[in-house]
Amino acid sequence: MISKIVEQVSPSGIREFFDLVLGMPEVISLGVGEPDFISPWRVRERAITALEEGMTSYTSNQGLFVLRRAISNHLKKKYSLAYNPEEEILITAGVSEGFDLAVRTVVEPKDKVIVVSPYYVAYPALVQICSAKVLYLTTRQEDGFKIDPKQLSKLLSQNPKAIILNYPSNPTGVTYSYEELKEIWRLLSKKEVIVISDEIYEELTYEGSHHPFASLSQKAKMRTVFLNGFSKGYAMTGFRVGYACANRRIISAMNKIHSYSALCAPIISQLAAVEALQAQRQVNQMRNEYKRRRDFIVKELNRVGLSTVMPEGAFYCFSSLKKLKIKSMEFAKKLLYDQKVAVVPGTAFGKEFDCYVRISYANSLDNLKESIVRIEALLSKIC
Ligand SMILES: Cc1ncc(COP(=O)(O)O)c(C=O)c1O
Repeated sequence: MISKIVEQVSPSGIREFFDLVLGMPEVISLGVGEPDFISPWRVRERAITALEEGMTSYTSNQGLFVLRRAISNHLKKKYSLAYNPEEEILITAGVSEGFDLAVRTVVEPKDKVIVVSPYYVAYPALVQICSAKVLYLTTRQEDGFKIDPKQLSKLLSQNPKAIILNYPSNPTGVTYSYEELKEIWRLLSKKEVIVISDEIYEELTYEGSHHPFASLSQKAKMRTVFLNGFSKGYAMTGFRVGYACANRRIISAMNKIHSYSALCAPIISQLAAVEALQAQRQVNQMRNEYKRRRDFIVKELNRVGLSTVMPEGAFYCFSSLKKLKIKSMEFAKKLLYDQKVAVVPGTAFGKEFDCYVRISYANSLDNLKESIVRIEALLSKIC
């Protein structure tokens, strides 16, 4: 009954593990990749008003012009990045849909696509669903989980159709300086490769500034599909709204698929997103709070012996279990059953990462403090 392609795709390692967590009371979950904040009140209020106004229809496939124009102005002001709202911006049902559309628009069967690992779980799965081949660019803790230019050059010699970038990264929190991005672009620019750049954690950058890949040069912009959304920085996961920016040929092709599959993003969410772009103060407050938690948990994880690179963005730590000589699933299960703390085994983000766990700090400081006590209690048993 089921297509062979779909059958061969592995289920999300995060979901698999969280099926175990479901129904277990008193668990502190440091597993899910979701803000613990509620969307800012002015965003919720706009959604309520939109409903009261009877805004319950479809919108144009490409999305409300008022939102596309607001996004265009926002990117111009923040990054001097100019996208024409008429034809270079598409509103999607989250970055998830934007990513799916970008891959389906650009990639053909048997094409090669570079995925940097550890990766966000959707990337290899959706590339494989397009019958394309994933070329993994594996990063290492010793390099701060950053792309090694030598490895990138090697993979580029196989003439991939596209590369997927994600910074700040899920699961490592790594991001790149302007100079590092320039170096990556210098290598990519020698080839015809398309860059699909998932920058959903852009607002949650704690060190230095974020630099969209498309802002590196006009040429980089023409070759990049810039994906962004409201789920993380604006705490709007349930609204399901994101956007893709690219040259007009790519946006028009993505919109073709979108018009047959999703039709449009929900109108209420689109109106709420217009409001969200005015909620910078609330975004800054959430960012400051994540940073406070990050500073606490990274210091504590390193103190108790789980070596952790300082994440520069997003809200995850990718912590090493190397010293413990224990596999990531076994550790995660012990932590869950013995101490009632849920983290995600590293193998969900690439099979090489069996000695890592992803720990989300999108949780209250009190819960993070309690989790460290429980992690220490487990470590004293197994070390
Ligand atoms: C890197 C990355 N991209 C995309 C998404 C999905 O975002 P959205 O809610 O906009 O679909 C997530 C969610 O965890 C993510 O971590």
